[in-house]
Amino acid sequence: MTENVVLTRSDGVLEIRLNRPEKKNALTRAMYDTMAEAFGQVDADPTLRVALLTGTGDTFTSGNDIADFQVRATSNREGAASRFLPALSSMEKPLIAAVNGAAIGVGTTMLMHCDLIIAASSARFVMPFTGLGLVPEAASSLLFPRLLGHQRASAMLLLGEPLEAATAHAWGFVNRVVDDVALMETAHAVARRLASLPPQAVRLTKRLMRHGADDVSGRIEEELALFRERLASPEAAEAFRAFMEKRKPDFSRFS
Ligand code: COA
Repeated sequence: MTENVVLTRSDGVLEIRLNRPEKKNALTRAMYDTMAEAFGQVDADPTLRVALLTGTGDTFTSGNDIADFQVRATSNREGAASRFLPALSSMEKPLIAAVNGAAIGVGTTMLMHCDLIIAASSARFVMPFTGLGLVPEAASSLLFPRLLGHQRASAMLLLGEPLEAATAHAWGFVNRVVDDVALMETAHAVARRLASLPPQAVRLTKRLMRHGADDVSGRIEEELALFRERLASPEAAEAFRAFMEKRKPDFSRFS
């Protein structure tokens, strides 16, 4: 448990709020673990019907903590998200995301496992993996081409091009875009609607829709193995150093 994730119950809904605004909600190991526990808590507690994920401040999340990436690059520690990703992709009850600003890296890839996405007008989706010397995770290399088509997925995953909220809506990536001030009220209204429905029918419907996605867990594993290798690569080391030193990375010496 960490105070960087705030859990609040109301009307059968567990709100899971990323709460590290001074670091743009960059995710630490403790934050991943607390989210994984919260997903398990929702599935196990009959009084909870829905989880609602959001962030404090102007950013949903800036993705994995880059300082943590640097530490992991030189250690044999298990990946910080290794519990989180399976817990996220196997959740039985519905998970709604209320995206309150930029969603970067895993902040975007995790959304592919949410059942409904409500975005604020300020939301922006970015996957800067290649620019960091990394590869994508959370089965996004499978799910993004499937949802958006190969070219659009390439623009996001190869070039790291940001997707603005309105385009994300036009492309079917988010359900609704609302004014920033209306985000939480809208998302909670949707969550309450889901929570008032027959819970078994909701769970079974989610299971049916996710059925046939057996390739997802395999892809998560495959990506994580490559991701671990990439974390220790000289390309990634240069990208992380550049971020910390607030300068542009220079990849010209790599072949
Ligand atoms: N890991 C660690 N620290 C992070 C971070 C991350 N992913 N994202 C932001 N921070 C820190 C910054 O280093 C800064 O810390 P400081 O105040 O001690 O200098 C603080 O959060 C505020 O960030 P800043 O960059 O000044 O805010 P901004 O509004 O100009 O930009 C972002 C916000 C999110 C666009 C920008 O911080 C960013 O691009 N972050 C990195 C995203 C990323 O590449 N994530 C990895 C994905 S795999």
